[in-house]
Amino acid sequence: LITTATAALLALGGTSAFASCEEGEVVIKFSHVTNTDKHPKGIAASLFQSRVNEEMNGKACVEVYPNSTLYNDDQVLEAMLNGDVQMAAPSLSKFEAFTKVFRIFDLPFMFKNIDAVDAFQASETGQAMKESMARRGLLGLGFWHNGMKQMSANKPLISPSDAQGLKFRVQPSDVLKAQMEAIGVSPQPMAFSEVYGALQTGVVDGQENTWSNIYGQKFFEVQDGITETNHGVLDYMVVVGVEWWEGLDADVRDQLTTIMDEVTTERNAAVGQVDMEARQAILDAGSTIVELTPEQRQEWVDAMLPVWEQFEGDVGEENIAAAQELNA
Ligand code: LMR
Repeated sequence: LITTATAALLALGGTSAFASCEEGEVVIKFSHVTNTDKHPKGIAASLFQSRVNEEMNGKACVEVYPNSTLYNDDQVLEAMLNGDVQMAAPSLSKFEAFTKVFRIFDLPFMFKNIDAVDAFQASETGQAMKESMARRGLLGLGFWHNGMKQMSANKPLISPSDAQGLKFRVQPSDVLKAQMEAIGVSPQPMAFSEVYGALQTGVVDGQENTWSNIYGQKFFEVQDGITETNHGVLDYMVVVGVEWWEGLDADVRDQLTTIMDEVTTERNAAVGQVDMEARQAILDAGSTIVELTPEQRQEWVDAMLPVWEQFEGDVGEENIAAAQELNA
């Protein structure tokens, strides 16, 4: 029997790992929104799938549903609480209904690069974030990296004032909305799978995202410029439902944890390369990437930094200080 999702997956050239799920195995549906082979999250999810299916054969079986074929990010967490999907890795901007602790990652210019993000996540404060949604039924298994965000629009942006009056798609995060408002942009929250169409039809003028997302979703095809601002970070948390996770046999849980930790370490170390390959592919396709001088970039910093103050209460002054120390 070929389900609609399987057919969609096969059509997209995805794996047919479903066929390997056998009776008696714990079936782990892993839903995500990106491609499987040119994206930090897609590659990590596929590696997790192939390792579990090989090393835990007979005990557990992962079915990856990429490209929003099963759920959008705004549906997947509810589906997880209903037991319809067991794993997902939404970006940290998509957990607002569950916790506000991730807001520090959305604050513009908080982290200078992914190494600083990694170090912050490895700290006691960062590790405690994995448990921050336990009361709401979700548990974090690990942080997966993507990269730094860039700004794209239907015109080249050099100064933040160039974006004034435009409409930008944002992920559903109050910090990101405030960040856009700080530069006179009207923020439009929207699911990832809808962004290409919205840019193409002019429902929105621009968006912010990482190189791998701009490349993977072909946003560069429907934008007239991408500005290398590196103004913020896009990172993920791999989550499971607490009830489902605690209901697993301890040996299954332990083995899944070990594989997840190893995949996380291996793929997080490789994101810089995936990011740069996507950037290069965008250039090769003939798109314009605007590189800012330090003075030009400082204009974006000056325009966006006041947003920190609005969210200091949620994020904690001490955490901001700790993040800044890691940038030094
Ligand atoms: C977005 O919605 O732009 C991203 O969170 C998508 C993703 O998963 O990288």
